Amino acid sequence: MWPDRRLIELFKTEFPIVLAPMAGVMDADLVIAAAQGGALGSLPCAMLSAEKACEQVKIIRQRVSAPINMNFFCHRAGDPDAGSQARWKLRLEGYYSEYGVDPAAPVNAVNRAPFDEAMCEVVEELKPEIVSFHFGLPEKSLLRRVKAAGCIVISSATIVKEAVWLEENGADAIIAQGMEAGGHRGMFLTDNIAEQPGTFALVPQVVDAVKVPVIASGGIADGRGIAAAFALGAAGVQIGSAYLRCPESKVSALARVALAQALDDSTVITNVMTGRPARGVPNRLMREVGPISPDAPAFPHAATALAPLKAAAEKQGKLDFTNLWAGQAIRMGREAPAGELTRALAGAALARMKQLAG
Ligand SMILES: Cc1cc2nc3c(=O)[nH]c(=O)nc-3n(C[C@H](O)[C@H](O)[C@H](O)COP(=O)(O)O)c2cc1C
Repeated sequence: MWPDRRLIELFKTEFPIVLAPMAGVMDADLVIAAAQGGALGSLPCAMLSAEKACEQVKIIRQRVSAPINMNFFCHRAGDPDAGSQARWKLRLEGYYSEYGVDPAAPVNAVNRAPFDEAMCEVVEELKPEIVSFHFGLPEKSLLRRVKAAGCIVISSATIVKEAVWLEENGADAIIAQGMEAGGHRGMFLTDNIAEQPGTFALVPQVVDAVKVPVIASGGIADGRGIAAAFALGAAGVQIGSAYLRCPESKVSALARVALAQALDDSTVITNVMTGRPARGVPNRLMREVGPISPDAPAFPHAATALAPLKAAAEKQGKLDFTNLWAGQAIRMGREAPAGELTRALAGAALARMKQLAG
């Protein structure tokens, strides 16, 4: 038995395990497989159009009868600043000439749009059981509409102050995202990377500071990690990296090789891929220009100038500019189908807790 059933009851899932939304490397297939295994499946919508998000949810609902979590970014998007774009292109000049890419050719801005009116209409139409946000919460009028549609709202906190803010502003559960986590840091009330706590320190302090259920996230990849999260007071876990090598993810064959070789000390925090800090396995750009560079334009605009380079490099079978987002426990991921992995994670966690209870 799970020692805390609040999340299972809130989400109405078999297990208190959330498959993390992972924009760019997954779609409906991984959501369906994890949901069939008993987890809450999360559909990352940050890089999807409203039409595509709608289509994906419909596919999921045709294939599995389970609650679904639609996930959105909710940063305050500013227009790209011409000066910083020009400086960034200058910094990347050598790569443009090496790959024979014209730096003056127009590039479609990479779509990492914040939750907006169009997406809110999709949510109102589809009424996903859960909506999760990264980088805080959307503006109040949009959030009110999401709640009026009957959706449970969750969001990531990277420090206690963010968790308290999320609870005060309407979150029904809080994802405590420790420093170990793969992908973008959900930070929104701080920009100091050096101060970000790890999962083990963050979870109990968030649990003490809020009343809503806490979902531990970051570096959790097996039954021991899940049992530890419960011991720290969490009511569930959100797991990303451990699912990356499942056959249902959309990680490319080349990236799978890089992820399979990654060790506990293989990931770093970088800002050069998008302009916001995120954890991943270093590619050539991160090694040579980053991992942190003051030249990277603000999120998400650093990615725009990288898009043609990424395409050119990948054509040659190189990951020089490809995101390899992954957390510190990437090594513990398995190649098993996501449903099987979910059941194995839940089973191992329960066995571990039973063993610890003596
Ligand atoms: C490849 C990748 C992409 C991610 N994309 C998103 C995203 O689109 N939205 C989001 O809320 N979190 C995203 N995250 C962060 C996860 O929600 C979560 O915090 C993280 O995966 C937990 O740490 P773990 O990777 O160690 O399990 C991403 C993580 C990874 C590894």
